[in-house]
Amino acid sequence: MNPTAITEMHYQEIRDLVYRKAGITLGDSRQALVQARLTKRLRALDLEEFTDYIEFLRADESGEEIVQLLDVIATNFTSFFREDRHFQLLSEIVRKAVKDKAKKFRLWCAAASTGEEPYTLSMVCQEAADGKIPDIKILATDISTKALRACVEGRYDEVRLNSVPEPSRRRWFRKDGSEYVASAELRAPLRFSRLNLMDVPYVMKGPFDVIFCRNVMIYFDRDGRAKFVAEALRLLAPGGILMVGSSESLSGISMGMESVMPSVYRKGTACP
Ligand SMILES: C[S@@+](CC[C@H](N)C(=O)[O-])C[C@H]1O[C@@H](n2cnc3c(N)ncnc32)[C@H](O)[C@@H]1O
Repeated sequence: MNPTAITEMHYQEIRDLVYRKAGITLGDSRQALVQARLTKRLRALDLEEFTDYIEFLRADESGEEIVQLLDVIATNFTSFFREDRHFQLLSEIVRKAVKDKAKKFRLWCAAASTGEEPYTLSMVCQEAADGKIPDIKILATDISTKALRACVEGRYDEVRLNSVPEPSRRRWFRKDGSEYVASAELRAPLRFSRLNLMDVPYVMKGPFDVIFCRNVMIYFDRDGRAKFVAEALRLLAPGGILMVGSSESLSGISMGMESVMPSVYRKGTACP
């Protein structure tokens, strides 16, 4: 059974829902992609028409179908050591914390996707701390339950591991057939949890020394971005650092955070 094509009206309804629930703006050009991805979902649910699917979505009080919908629509592209200069800067920040005799270090990865970014954060922090910061914790969150399952599994094929330097790969991953599995040591500082960045206020208390929120704000409009930035600012420690994707900017919504370099912001020590 092949579901019928998505009409302009269905697409508009799905767009509205995705915007209201996740702050994600789907442009006109994404209609074919949404159709292709949702067709599989309709088949899995044994539904013939998009109208039936939209009714099913509306009737779903648990919110579980919205999670499924976002799982099929969200773009999870990521890689180990993506935009490497952020990790070099993080390494410097952690080394400075070691010099300052910090006892703990708190990091939040706000759009963890399938885990490559949070596992990179764990490698970089632990290598830079060299066992001298006793309490390192990294919270990794994402809206997608499917992506979070991949995070927890921590299993990647060889091609994905290509961007991990050989010594780090040997130290932090165990080979299992043609795949690599994150070691217990690499997982130790990490906690994975579902969080929709549009559901404010966030439940975490912070404060975080560093927040990574990269390549997700491109899907949000100005209101959505401002919502996140206000919460990030609240959760950062004074002097804490926020890193966003290289193609993202907080221009006009930085709320007093100072720009350290493109896509890197610092919460001033005078900020509340
Ligand atoms: C393109 S990936 C970026 C992954 C990683 N941060 C990186 O830069 O490589 C975007 C991620 O944002 C997540 N996402 C989209 N909307 C979200 C929302 N409203 N709240 C939390 N995560 C969201 C998606 O599920 C996806 O995993």
